[in-house]
Amino acid sequence: AAIEKGNYRHFMQKEIFEQPTVVAQTLGSYLRQADNSVALPQFDFDLSSIKRVTIVACGTSYYAAMVAKYWFEQFARVPVDLDVASEFRYREPVLEEGGLALFISQSGETADTLAALRHCKANGQTIGVVVNVPTSSMAREADLLLPTHAGPEIGVASTKAFTCQLAVLAALAAHMAVKRGLMSRKEEQEVVRHLLEAPACLNAALDHDEDIAAMAHLIAPARDVLYLGRGPDYPLAMEGALKLKEISYIHAEGYASGEMKHGPIALIDEHVPVIVLAPSGPLFEKTVSNMEEVRARGGQIVLISDAKGLEAAGEGCMATIEMPQVHPLIAPLVYAIPVQLLAYHTACVKGTDVDQPRNLAKSVTVE
Ligand code: G6P
Repeated sequence: AAIEKGNYRHFMQKEIFEQPTVVAQTLGSYLRQADNSVALPQFDFDLSSIKRVTIVACGTSYYAAMVAKYWFEQFARVPVDLDVASEFRYREPVLEEGGLALFISQSGETADTLAALRHCKANGQTIGVVVNVPTSSMAREADLLLPTHAGPEIGVASTKAFTCQLAVLAALAAHMAVKRGLMSRKEEQEVVRHLLEAPACLNAALDHDEDIAAMAHLIAPARDVLYLGRGPDYPLAMEGALKLKEISYIHAEGYASGEMKHGPIALIDEHVPVIVLAPSGPLFEKTVSNMEEVRARGGQIVLISDAKGLEAAGEGCMATIEMPQVHPLIAPLVYAIPVQLLAYHTACVKGTDVDQPRNLAKSVTVE
């Protein structure tokens, strides 16, 4: 059956709003609600003794991989090697026999990622694939197939596939932590409970749609926009910048908050909106001081944080967007929503072709 937009103006908008449902579906296939445990497909690989994971992807899927690196290292203490697929083979990566290589892709057909997969297979790696199209080349070539259940994604700029990838990767991080004896049964239950709260938190984030649509009028006139984040929210800053440039054609950069002073700060003046992604928590204070550096140079800040964060640092911002208070493991999923909506509405203000942006393809099958 043809996929319809229904009451939505664009497929991208529809796909943004589908996220609570498809993330719930995806989590449902990896988490057992009966006993709050993580349940991965049967897989002949010993995760307990794994020395390193190699992760390869492109575009938005690469940013999901980047979040996974934080999680795999933090929760499962597994070192992660991470590359964009077009760089991977050519740097002659060192692949130890018996290692695990993970490929993340919505389409399962991206040429660079597929070539990287085959390279790893030829070099004795076990192949894990997080993929949205179950009949794709990558799905067929996987030893461990971890499907995202986002349903067909039509908008060229990926949205729901991304949050579903994060859902799978969060479950995998928890599973590895359990296998490696770093997460007790009780902690696992706790994490699973938090993950199961994700769909409701995504809904709470979507409630800000109208405010964000209004905010888009502040962003649309800009020539450059900077996105800042720390920890697992740093990849989110990059993803926010990618979404904005893909569909609104405004130049945007995502930067690690603390790295801004080593370059991008030179760009800051009153014409450069700076979007700060900063859930309250141990990294918050540091990010606030980076925000102060922006403010001191006249930069206009949009702060995306929870009630606690906004209370501490919301004053003096051009705009704020309040996210629910969430567990660090689901913050990247939840914070994806405002950056997607901000890009979407800014593109609408600019009148661009949101679902088919110029020069871009949904699936890139050339290297
Ligand atoms: C293209 C799309 C992006 C996507 C990237 C990777 O550039 O426009 O939205 O993130 O390919 O695609 P994949 O299917 O491998 O996730």
